[in-house]
Amino acid sequence: MRAVIPVAGFGTRLKPHTYSMPKVLLTVGDKPILGHILEKLVQENILNATLITGHLGDKIVSYVRKEFPQINAEFVEQEEMLGLGHAIYSAAKTFGNEEIFIILGDTVFDVNLDNVLKNQVSSIGVKNVEDPSRFGVAVTENGFVKKLIEKPSRPISKMALVGLYYIKNSELLKDSLEELIRKNIKTRGEYQLTDALQIMIERGEKITTFKVDGWYDCGKPETLLSTNRFLLQKNHYAAKAENTVVIPPVFIAENAIVENSVIGPFTTISKNCIVRDSIIKNSIINPGAHVERAMLDSSIIGSNAVVKGKFTRLNAGDSSELEFD
Ligand code: UTP
Repeated sequence: MRAVIPVAGFGTRLKPHTYSMPKVLLTVGDKPILGHILEKLVQENILNATLITGHLGDKIVSYVRKEFPQINAEFVEQEEMLGLGHAIYSAAKTFGNEEIFIILGDTVFDVNLDNVLKNQVSSIGVKNVEDPSRFGVAVTENGFVKKLIEKPSRPISKMALVGLYYIKNSELLKDSLEELIRKNIKTRGEYQLTDALQIMIERGEKITTFKVDGWYDCGKPETLLSTNRFLLQKNHYAAKAENTVVIPPVFIAENAIVENSVIGPFTTISKNCIVRDSIIKNSIINPGAHVERAMLDSSIIGSNAVVKGKFTRLNAGDSSELEFD
C-alpha cells in the first residue's frame, strides 16, 4: 500500500501566502496542513508515500524529510500543472502494481481508514453537499459507482468527491491515465483524475464509495480559518504566556513568546512567534511572525511577517512588514 499525495499546485486562492510558502505547508491547528495528513498515515501504518511536487517543491521535500523520517517518501516533480490526472500520471513510475491511496494534499480529513482499507474493491471518499457544481460527483447504482462527472453543469448528484481515492487496481489506473493523455481528454482545460476513473469504470473496474463526514478544506482563507477552528476544538494546547488571557481553544507553541495579550478563541500562535500587547482571535499566526500592539480577527499572518499597530482584518504574506500607528 502506498499513499500518493499531489502537492504541486500554486495555491492561487491563498495568495499572498503561497508566493513564498507551498499551500500545504501553511499552518492549520498545531501544524502544517500536510503534517495532519502524514500524521494520519503514520497512525495507520502507511509508511510508503509518493509526493508529487511542483511549486516550491524543495520546501516540501525538506519538511517531510525533517518531520517525518519514519515515512519512506519518494518525490516526483510534476513539471507542468496540467491537472490532478496528470499529477498522478507523473507519479505512476513509483507505484508498480501495489494498491494506492490518493489523498489531496490540501484537505484535512477525519475518517476511520481501517474500514476503507479493508474494502475488497476500489473505493472513493464522498460527502453529500448542497452545491456540487464545484466538485467532481459520483452517481451510484446498486452500491457501485456508475458515473463520475467533474464539476457537473446540471445537478446530477449531490455526492461530491472529497479527494480520497483507494485504488486496488493501480495498473488499470495507469492505463486509464495513459489513455486520457494519449487521447488528450481534458475537462476545463485539465487532465482530470475523475475522467481517468470513469475510463476505469468503463473498462469494468468495480468502484464503491465511502462516506467522509469529516472533510475540511484548506484551499481558501475562509476555509483555512474554519478548518483551524475545527482542529483547535479537537486538540488545543497553550504554552505558558506571560500576563496574558487565553480564551480556549487555542494553540500556542512551546517556544512562542506571548506577553500582555488576549489570545483566542480559535487562534494559533506557531513556533518562534513573538506576540506582545495584542488581542488576537480567530486567526493563524505562522512560524516566526512578530505581532505587536495589534488587534486581529479572522487574519492569517505569514511566516516571519512583522505586524505592528492597530487594525482588524489582514491577509499578510510571508516576510511582509506592516506598521499601523
Ligand atoms: P487545487 O486545484 O485545489 O489546488 O488542487 P491548487 O492548484 O494548489 O490551488 P488553487 O486552485 O490554485 O487555489 C488540489 C490538490 O491537488 C494538487 C494541489 O497541489 C492540491 O494539493 N494538484 C492539483 C497537483 O498536484 N497538480 C495539479 O496539476 C493540480
